[in-house]
This record gives sequence, structure tokens and C-alpha cells, in this order.
Amino acid sequence: MRIGILTSGGDAPGMNAAIRAVVRTALHTRHSVFGIRLGYNGLIAGDIAPLDHAGVANIIQRGGTILGTARSEEFLTGAGMKKAARTMIEYQLDALVVIGGEGTMRGADEFSRRYPVRLVGLPATIDNDLYGTDFTIGFDTAVNNALEAIDRIRDTASSLERIFFIEVMGRTAGYIGLTVGLASGAEEVLIPETPTDLKKLSRSIQHNIDKGKKTNIVIVAEGDEAGNALEIAKKVKKLTGEDFRVAVLGYIQRGGAPSARDRVLASKLGYDAVHALRRGISGCLAGEVNGKTVYTKFRETYRRKKKIDRRLYKTLKTLAD
Ligand code: F6P
Repeated sequence: MRIGILTSGGDAPGMNAAIRAVVRTALHTRHSVFGIRLGYNGLIAGDIAPLDHAGVANIIQRGGTILGTARSEEFLTGAGMKKAARTMIEYQLDALVVIGGEGTMRGADEFSRRYPVRLVGLPATIDNDLYGTDFTIGFDTAVNNALEAIDRIRDTASSLERIFFIEVMGRTAGYIGLTVGLASGAEEVLIPETPTDLKKLSRSIQHNIDKGKKTNIVIVAEGDEAGNALEIAKKVKKLTGEDFRVAVLGYIQRGGAPSARDRVLASKLGYDAVHALRRGISGCLAGEVNGKTVYTKFRETYRRKKKIDRRLYKTLKTLAD
């Protein structure tokens, strides 16, 4: 097989480890791999070059993606997909491995419905909001990046006994928020999956202050329906009269060396993706569920919603009380 590989959507730490795993597994089984630059845009434009063993050396520890990535608007159009299909023919690509999140799997789904392409997806997004895998590549690193920052903020928060509202990424998903909330010992976490009651939040903060708690850390997932961290903080100040500080962690969460867990997940799934293509599996995401690689139809990965673990919230509230 001649396998094309691309990364698409927001970059996620561990994408490089996945590229390395696909290239090395394919070469080991006597297939060739072609790197496609800048996501689906590179497939449309024919921005493609062979990847060899040395070409993926020293990348397992690097964040970002050596192939570059994009959120391609053109690929969503019929004309864009037609050009991409022509590129596949021109470069004699038999199969594609696409690495990314929900948008990437949507694109892959549509592409494989319109054209007879062999396609396997690998889950990579810091948001972890993809059905068909317990964890996405990049999530663990993003959580650890956020955690490191929150631990530092806690030092200043407790010294000055200040209320902090810390905004984390996750677009419309609260996986990062909930996980760092529990891991950092936050007092409260606001996520899009659960309704936010600002009066209740204010009462809880006031109660903490009254009983002598020195820190009040509220984690706000960026997609919370009550607003962003600053908007929420201002509303809470109106209700409590208490001063506050806000920290928006932003893109530092997405950068840096992937954690061991992300490297291992990327390596296992990259290896399995190549073997899946060899066995004729196509039109699926290769994800890990309960420690086993499972193949989920692209359509299901974005149509079905992975459930948030509500136990984490209950535990957080109990431990922070
Ligand atoms: O999908 C990953 C993510 O980092 C989200 O958490 C965030 O909302 C979004 O990407 C930011 O998108 P962009 O990189 O286009 O600014």
C-alpha cells in the first residue's frame, strides 16, 4: 500500500508520536507512507512528500505536528473533495490515515462516502470529546499542562486569600475542566455539560470564606453557558461583594512535550491503524476503550456523545468541602 497521512484540526501533543508509529509500522510491513502537509488543504493542493524511517526520527517527544495542520473550509465543499480525490489518484495513494478530532472525522466520513477511499482515523484532540475512545491523544498532556499552571496559581491564591477563576480549554466539552478540577483540588468547576447556577456558586464561595477557607479556586471550561471566566467572576462579585482574579490558561495547554500516556496511546493506535488497513478495515476511527483497540464508524464518533463522568464532580465537591 501507499499510505497518505495527515494531521487536521487543532494540534495536540502526541500527534508526532502517532505519525512516527504509522510510518515505522508501515515500513516494517513493507508499505510506503506519504506525509500530507497542512491537513486536508495539503490533500487538495497535492502538498505531499514521502516519509522515511529517518524522517520521523526524534519527533516522539515533540509537541505540535511536523506535518502542520489546518481547519480546512475547502475540504467541506464538493469541489474540494473532488480535488482531494484527484490528488489520491495522482500520487497513487491506496489509503489514508487521518489524525485529529471531531471535524477531522466528519471530513473523513464524507470523503469515504463520496469516493472509494480506504481510510482509518486516529483520535487526537486535547478536548477528549470524541466518541469511540476513552481518551484522545493530547488530552493527558493538556490536563497536566493546565494542572502545573493551576498549582502555581494556588500558591498566590492562598498567600493573598484570593478567589481565582481559571479558564481552561475544551470548546464545548468539560473533560479538561472536570479532570483538572479534581486533580488540582479546586473548590468548583463549571462545565458546559451541566447547568451553572451562579447564585448557588456565590453561596458556596461565601460559605467557604465564612468557614475560613484560604483559597477559592473555580475552574471554568471555556464553553460554559454562563459565560467566560471574567464574565462569571464579575457576576459573582455582584452577588458576594468579594474581589477576584482571573487567569485564562489558553494555548499553553496545547503545547509542549507529550506525556508518557499520550505517547503510548499514540504509538499503540498508530501501530494498530496500519494493521487495520492491512486487514481491510476502513471508514473507522481506531480508538481505545477499556484498554483495547476498537474500531468505530466515523459517523458514530461525532454523532454520539461520550458521557462525562459525573462521579468526578461529586468526588470533587465532597473533597473540597
Ligand atoms: O480543539 C482544540 C481546541 O484547543 C479547543 O479546546 C479550543 O476551543 C479550540 O481548539 C481553539 O481553536 P483555534 O486553535 O482555532 O483557536
